[in-house]
Amino acid sequence: MSPQPQARPGPRELEAMAPFRRSPDVHEPRATAVTGSVPDWLQGDLLRTCPAVFAQGAWQARHWFDGLGQIYAFRIGDSAVRFQSCLLDSEAAREVASGRARLSSFGTPTGRTAWQRLVQPVQRSTDNTNVNIVQMGDDLVALTEGARQMRIDAASLRAMGPRPYARDGLDGTVMGAHPHRDFARRQVVNLATTFGARGGVVSVYEHGDGERVRRTVGSWRTDRVPYIHSFGLTPSRAVLVAPPYAVKPLDMLWSNRGYIDHFEWRPQDGTRLVVMDRTRGTTTEHEADAMFVFHTVNAFERGSDTVLDALAYPDAAIMDDLRVTRMAERLPDLRPRLVRITMRPGRPRAEVQPLGDTGFEFPGIHYRRSSGGDYRCVWGAADGPPAAGGYASSVVKVDVRSGEHRAFGDGEHIYGEPVFVARPGGLDEDDGVLLSVGSSQRTPSSALAILDARTMDLLARADVPAAIPLGFHGSFVRRSAPPP
Ligand SMILES: [Fe+2]
Repeated sequence: MSPQPQARPGPRELEAMAPFRRSPDVHEPRATAVTGSVPDWLQGDLLRTCPAVFAQGAWQARHWFDGLGQIYAFRIGDSAVRFQSCLLDSEAAREVASGRARLSSFGTPTGRTAWQRLVQPVQRSTDNTNVNIVQMGDDLVALTEGARQMRIDAASLRAMGPRPYARDGLDGTVMGAHPHRDFARRQVVNLATTFGARGGVVSVYEHGDGERVRRTVGSWRTDRVPYIHSFGLTPSRAVLVAPPYAVKPLDMLWSNRGYIDHFEWRPQDGTRLVVMDRTRGTTTEHEADAMFVFHTVNAFERGSDTVLDALAYPDAAIMDDLRVTRMAERLPDLRPRLVRITMRPGRPRAEVQPLGDTGFEFPGIHYRRSSGGDYRCVWGAADGPPAAGGYASSVVKVDVRSGEHRAFGDGEHIYGEPVFVARPGGLDEDDGVLLSVGSSQRTPSSALAILDARTMDLLARADVPAAIPLGFHGSFVRRSAPPP
């Protein structure tokens, strides 16, 4: 897939557009204007990362995913909400500032000279960790798809350099931005992709919260390396969705193109589903019609069957819709279908069934309770009701058993990923709140919505008189330790 020849907006035009509006740093936590009532028990920090800087000097991001990162926090406690943010001081940001952007990017060409390409045929992976932020033991870690993860100081939100790992055989691999957590075994479980002359290897690895050594659980080899953004995890298996959107690693040698610009959509190849046994490391493959998936929702076991719920697009056109020129014209239609994929041993063909007809993205569940097991509730962000001042979105709740859904929207904000926070002592899967950050399209203002996760009613809203760029993922970190 190649970018369409559309006129690129200039840096100033870009910064005036809502999705790319420049957001000032707020180094000291600042009070927000709270309406409604923040639950007393909600004490902690919503920490998020997002692409925030799209133009600087001669450099301009061509893909949404390439905006230079910003870390921000909503600090919630004693019925008040304070806001804080900090641009990410990464090697990628320093390169851009010095006019020499040479690290790899997602969909923006790098500026390596012919000599640099010759001596280093493979682009060095970016440390612009603008996709997700998670807690790993004492480390707050910002993530992108790359060889480096960035430690973030929880108080100042400043970057503290890469999280060190031992020389464990996975050095230099592309780590995923959606690690799972195995609570029973106290392990972080993630993907690592290695590109080689004869193809690629996608490995599942794990490590303890504070550990620096990654243990490879199992590996899957493939000639054409698919784009895999997230994966499913059950107590005994990992599940990968390998769409027919893939690259031959040799095509990336000596190239200055963005990472994803090497990938090709080949629907005739169909989708491969890989089930990995987490004890033995062995894999079995199933197949399904072509689909493209950014986000898995949950996975679980039914005896020997493996079930994966995921948000599936009919193709990978969404990757082009997320290019800056496209987004400057209209925001993308993020309405993949929620599907249930069942993989049965001995049957090469996987069963794919739609679960309801609500299209949404950025799925979240009651992760601690439901991850890897049967569940009922998923929340996400969807197109909202038509807004007077442009586009808005809503936060939705879908019951995967009944297909029922509820939504919240205010016609003003583009709400992103809802993060579920369970009420301490709560028994039900939806007993808690959702935290979702909304950015106004009309004005440089933003809001944190605190919703009742059961009813989807607005409990409180914290207004910030500044733009917060649209973003992807984050975590809620409780002020006191969660129950074991
Ligand atoms: Fe994601």
